[in-house]
Amino acid sequence: MYPRSLSRLAAPAVAALLALTAGCTGSTVQGRPGASGVRDPFFPKAGNGGYQVDHYDLDFDYDPATGKMDATAVITARAEQGLSSFNLDLSGLEVEEVTVQGAGARFNRTGKELTVRPAKDLKRGEVFRTEIDYAGVPKPLTDPDGSQEGWIPTADGDGAVGVGEPVGSMAWFPGNHHPSDKATYDIRVTVPKGYEVASNGELSSRTEEADGRTAFAWHSPEPMASYLATVAVGKFAVTTGKTASGIPVHNAVAPKEAAASAAVLARLPEMVEWGSARFGPYPFSTTGAIVLPEGTLGYALETQTRPVFSGALTGARGETLLLHELAHQWFGDSVSPKSWKDMWLNEGFATYAEWLWAEEHGGPSAQERFQAFLDGDTDVDDEAASDWAAFPPASPPGAKEISEPPVYARGAMVLQRIRQEVGDEKFFALVRGWAADHRHANASTADFTAYAQEKTGHDLKKVWDVWLYGTERPKAP
Ligand code: ARG
Ligand code: ZN
Repeated sequence: MYPRSLSRLAAPAVAALLALTAGCTGSTVQGRPGASGVRDPFFPKAGNGGYQVDHYDLDFDYDPATGKMDATAVITARAEQGLSSFNLDLSGLEVEEVTVQGAGARFNRTGKELTVRPAKDLKRGEVFRTEIDYAGVPKPLTDPDGSQEGWIPTADGDGAVGVGEPVGSMAWFPGNHHPSDKATYDIRVTVPKGYEVASNGELSSRTEEADGRTAFAWHSPEPMASYLATVAVGKFAVTTGKTASGIPVHNAVAPKEAAASAAVLARLPEMVEWGSARFGPYPFSTTGAIVLPEGTLGYALETQTRPVFSGALTGARGETLLLHELAHQWFGDSVSPKSWKDMWLNEGFATYAEWLWAEEHGGPSAQERFQAFLDGDTDVDDEAASDWAAFPPASPPGAKEISEPPVYARGAMVLQRIRQEVGDEKFFALVRGWAADHRHANASTADFTAYAQEKTGHDLKKVWDVWLYGTERPKAP
């Protein structure tokens, strides 16, 4: 099959050719190109305009020995405008063939943008199916803050993980890679015998193929932002169970980390139930965790239904980290940010959940924690001496600061300030209401401040001005 790529033609030549084709047939041009990004304040090229994805069907073969992936992605989307072409985000890998609605489509690639030109323009409102055949060795990407995401070999050299916050998912599948476009997923991965694959949602089948490989089919029935998709390949020890209310648990743990992680992982079901009691019903049909060999990643990630950890979960630190990533299931995963500037809605809430958990399990109260940050008292919290006041949480200076202490700790302090103003009853009603009213959707900082005022009936302008947007270091209220 010859590549249907336009990439060898210069852009003006392509434009002229397309204009000429339209002119020749005398047909009215219905579509126009979809935008190449959704103009996120920090990642302007992330995501694409003109359509929204309903479902991703990813199917790939992965060989841990060579790092090679051979994949097909089927993306079902709805056109939001007439489209003569549309973009997907994809970094690296080789695109072999693209079809739209079953017909061969032309495509070209510029940087991380894959532009697809269907044989026939898509009409506004049309639901269309795009199939992308691609292959290659997926690579890690370096974040603006220097950390690694994308497709990362595990530290034991015998497996890999796909992680995507904020823009790493384009390293392993083409998509509309911005949190504002959430979709359901089916992820099917075939690996050599002896390997396990852990991903998001429900394990709908595990099949021994005739060629001696094993295929794992994972299904995510609830919408997911693409940065929360994950695939982990390794020789994991798998344990399953159920929480008290019956939510199935699936844990995949690197054997070397298993013994040390057992005690903390044993508390996962209790943490999920605790979250349901505090924040409202757990938003997904399954839960669990993926524990990778130590040194694989420099962070943990709240991948949907099944957060990823690097190295054993041990002691109080491991317990807090697990609680943090599970709290994200409500805040970040179910209620997702509208843009990467809204990251404090993820991290401030997840950090506040740590404070609440501690408050109810023999640790300092959230108020004591708040005070410790104001005082820089590291006896209460070792993060208290961090530069949490360096910038306002709702306005990080740039893409490389979205995972900095002001987003986490000061974000949590914003919530404690609200609690101080409105009292416990209204505060917890606000937290539950926020999770319920934006369940499986997206929200911005402006949505939150408006919602908080309406829900509590309090004027919280001063809290927003000083704690959320203020550039000065806030003082004790
Ligand atoms: N969201 C992750 C957490 O639970 C942290 C991700 C860090 N990523 C990064 N690029 N710095 O806090
Ligand atoms: Zn977090």
